[in-house]
Amino acid sequence: MKFKHEWIEKSPILLLVLVLIVVSFGGLVEIVPLFFQKSTTEPVAGLQPYSPLRLAGRDIYLREGCYNCHSQMIRPFRAETERYGHYSVAGEFVYDHPFQWGSKRTGPDLARVGGRYSDEWHRTHLNNPRDVVPESNMPGYPWLAKTKLVPDEIAPKMRALKRLGVPYTDQEIAEAPKSLADKTEQDALVAYLQGMGTLIKAR
Ligand code: HEC
Repeated sequence: MKFKHEWIEKSPILLLVLVLIVVSFGGLVEIVPLFFQKSTTEPVAGLQPYSPLRLAGRDIYLREGCYNCHSQMIRPFRAETERYGHYSVAGEFVYDHPFQWGSKRTGPDLARVGGRYSDEWHRTHLNNPRDVVPESNMPGYPWLAKTKLVPDEIAPKMRALKRLGVPYTDQEIAEAPKSLADKTEQDALVAYLQGMGTLIKAR
């Protein structure tokens, strides 16, 4: 039988299967090399694993669902870089498991919010956003300031991250709980926010 393109086009199932093969091949060609490229797997200069306090703050960010309204990825478009600063690069996130890039922006992107405001601003804002941004519709999180961290929870988290390739030393893990004594959840969250995206200059 002479091969005719018409024959494929008239058989929807066959066409579907062939399209899927072509599309998944295209996807693999695009995606697989990223797993091996230095620029996507090597940390940017100066990147350190999260300190115990910032790591605890990151978990509070996840627990409170801040990612439902905030992304952490500045896309390489002028409208974004003028507002938020240098676009995000993969090497900034190699110690993030899981990363918090997201795409939902009810509030602004937070990828470079570190250092933009004082700690005091963040504390006021987290207790009641309307105290510093009158038109804000962000919910307040006043209990974070009254809730102490549980220091013993940090070591197992660090050990789990170590297994995923974050270079924590055994000594750092052993000393971590001590460094969290008497800290509140708000202390941790503010420390996390203040470290965000500071390694690459704003512009
Ligand atoms: C319901 C959506 C919503 C949630 C949930 C939310 N935010 Fe917001 N956030 C906003 C909006 C809207 C703004 C802009 C107005 C303002 O500054 O309050 C904002 C602003 C911010 C800013 C200031 C950013 C800037 O560049 O000015 C920070 C920091 C922030 N949020 C942190 C958090 C953290 C941390 C959490 C979780 C504890 C959180 N947000 C949860 C909506 C939200």
